[in-house]
Amino acid sequence: MPENKLVRFENIDGVGVVTIDNPPVNALSPGVPEGIIEAIERGNADPAIRAMVLIGAGRSFIAGADIRTFGNRPPPVLGKRAHDALDASQKPVVAAIHGYALGGGFEIALASNYRIAVPSAKVGLPEVLIGIIPGSGGTQRLPRLIGPKAALEMIVSGRHVPAEEAHRLGIIDELAPEGGDLRQAAIAFARGVADTKPLPRIRDHDEKLAEAQADPGMFDAMRKSIARRARGQKAPYHCIQSVENACKMPFDDGIVRERELFNELENSAEARALRYAFFAEREVARLPDIPRETPLRPIKTAAIVGAGTMGGGIAMSFAEFGFPVQLLEIDEDALARGLARIRSTYETSVKRGSLSTAEMERRLGLIEGVGSYDDIAQADVVIEAVFERIPVKEEVFKKLDATMKPGALLYSNTSGIDIDIMANATKRPQDVAGTHFFAPANVMKLFEVVRGAKSALDTLMTAMDLGRKIGKVSAMAGNGDGFVANRSRTPFGTEMIILVEEGALPEQVDKVMVDFGYPIGPFATADLSGLDIGYDSRQRRAAQNPNYRKLPIADHLVEIGRLGQKSGAGWYRYEKGDRTPHPDPEVARIIKDKAAELHIAQRNFTDEEILRRLLFASVNEACKILEEGKAYRASDIDVMWLNGFGFPRYRGGLMYWADGIGVAEIYRQIVQWHQRYGERWAPSSLLRQLVETGTPFRDAKPGGR
Ligand code: 3HC
Ligand code: NAI
Repeated sequence: MPENKLVRFENIDGVGVVTIDNPPVNALSPGVPEGIIEAIERGNADPAIRAMVLIGAGRSFIAGADIRTFGNRPPPVLGKRAHDALDASQKPVVAAIHGYALGGGFEIALASNYRIAVPSAKVGLPEVLIGIIPGSGGTQRLPRLIGPKAALEMIVSGRHVPAEEAHRLGIIDELAPEGGDLRQAAIAFARGVADTKPLPRIRDHDEKLAEAQADPGMFDAMRKSIARRARGQKAPYHCIQSVENACKMPFDDGIVRERELFNELENSAEARALRYAFFAEREVARLPDIPRETPLRPIKTAAIVGAGTMGGGIAMSFAEFGFPVQLLEIDEDALARGLARIRSTYETSVKRGSLSTAEMERRLGLIEGVGSYDDIAQADVVIEAVFERIPVKEEVFKKLDATMKPGALLYSNTSGIDIDIMANATKRPQDVAGTHFFAPANVMKLFEVVRGAKSALDTLMTAMDLGRKIGKVSAMAGNGDGFVANRSRTPFGTEMIILVEEGALPEQVDKVMVDFGYPIGPFATADLSGLDIGYDSRQRRAAQNPNYRKLPIADHLVEIGRLGQKSGAGWYRYEKGDRTPHPDPEVARIIKDKAAELHIAQRNFTDEEILRRLLFASVNEACKILEEGKAYRASDIDVMWLNGFGFPRYRGGLMYWADGIGVAEIYRQIVQWHQRYGERWAPSSLLRQLVETGTPFRDAKPGGR
């Protein structure tokens, strides 16, 4: 038999060790399943082999099907797949798991007779996150192994389950010592079970399915519980359907049906958008003008200046990922308030059951309040999160320059101030960059790295890496007002208020965007963040630009004390102690009066017009950003919208969505609105070029770099 390069077979004293070697994550690319089938058949045919071990080379077991092949290969032929070969094996097969066993990789482990894993390994069926369902038996075997309820939870969430939890659930038979020799442990395990008869095969066991007979309502209850989260999507419902089938059909019928459900989804709009998002989030890490091998500066300890809303959230992000972090405030009272707010946020999570008390204490133990710059001088990185005022920021950076050890990274969390102002306040501008978190900083995943004129390459690369290390998605942005994320979102924020001036109501705009897939509407979001934030930035912009388009209704609300949820009223009204937004006739009256005062005619809007007004305004701005070379590619802007602004992931992102409409149509509409509404709709020249050359946004080449 010719040796398959992706899958090796070795006889180690009677145990056939099958090693999958397809870097970087041993995806099941063409050749890998075939290699596994050959190896299992070879082990069965060889009388010298008593048992087999399946193991991954490199950093992982198997991360699943090769996502790159989805949608561009002929439909898979229902036939002899790797798990059929495993089912047919007469000799025990032990899956030895380290790193990840996900999707099709986990399904191979489930079709094996036994599973052993190191504690750091993770297993799961994350297919739903890319808009499909497990297609190689996962929805049929997992409910048989751990019961339909636990299986539903895993499959519908797509979460990665740590090996220790998987062991408790009964997925993993044995935990091997971390840092030990997993291969040896698996070989020893395989020897121990070599003579077991009959071989345990998950497909033969229906006992756990009885749980569904006892609680037949569990599937509908699950459908109900995801209704809000899964709006507009099919995959989560197909997952539930397939697990329900496992409880109602014989195994082989369930498998056939699972594959049909899988095939229905593979090329759905939702699956294509989610695959796009998956690869966009990997592409964003590639910086075309910074060599990949740029050495990173080591980061073991961090400090934060300013323990307010953002500083506290940033400290929590560091602590979550095990970094000791110091907090420096303006005085003891402010520090005590900051630390108390962190504790109370954790306590709320403990109350809700999403955090254990022990984990809270571990994290709190990593956060240390300090009293002076000398205390933080040895930190590897410091993030400034003080008031958004230039003189305050300059003062802080001067002090950091005077005290921080040489080579310390000096980052600013400013949301809009020119990074070079902070850099130039120091004698080490090469060590300065922006690291822009999004509120709440401990929750939102976007981490925008802002490049100053003098930021050294390793300052930027280390920032990108740091974001990943604290669980964020890092994206690089050029310096300039609002950087990339907020700048591209600003026209949306302006347009929604102008729509209201023209006769739409906040609740109507919110409904359109929620129906589109946002978790909450933009006016409700504004109330949540506080209307004073936008007010301040409008005042600043108006002072700088005499042609600035004022937003009198929004300004008026703030001036009469309607600051949003925190003051009990904003675009909506709120009952005491309740966060539910209620449409407010008072706001409708204010809108009407102000519009009359400003001589703005009132009219009705279709949902489509509202959606397009908001999103096209931002698409146009995104083109200007690309044209100026402030972002590397349209997909980076998508990554920012997905992770910073709650844009529905199953729509891929702002620019991916726009490509679905097409550059020509968007340009046509923008030109029309330019004629009607004036300068703010002036089309970007990049957009015009894209139309002339028939280039989609995803292929737009940014200028300036
Ligand atoms: N197919 C193709 N490429 C993959 C892949 C996959 N399943 N999983 C990872 N990769 C690639 C990434 O694109 C990346 O490539 P790059 O270096 O060229 O950018 C490289 O592997 C490393 O990936 P990450 O940067 O994401 O590495 P991490 O260590 O951060 O994360 C991971 C590893 C958790 C495995 C993560 O890559 C991941 O979540 N992968 C997808 C897992 C998945 O969805 N599996 C299910 C696939 S569908 C399936 O199996 C269908 C079956 O039921 C029939
Ligand atoms: P905040 O007002 O809640 O916190 C600022 C904190 O800095 C206060 O606790 C204050 O006492 C402290 N401080 C002020 N001067 C200081 C000094 N000289 N030394 C030490 N501490 C000092 O403000 P918030 O919202 O946390 O914003 C901080 C920064 O983060 C700003 O630059 C803001 O633009 C930016 N930002 C804010 C976002 C938000 O949604 N709130 C989002 C992203 C960035």
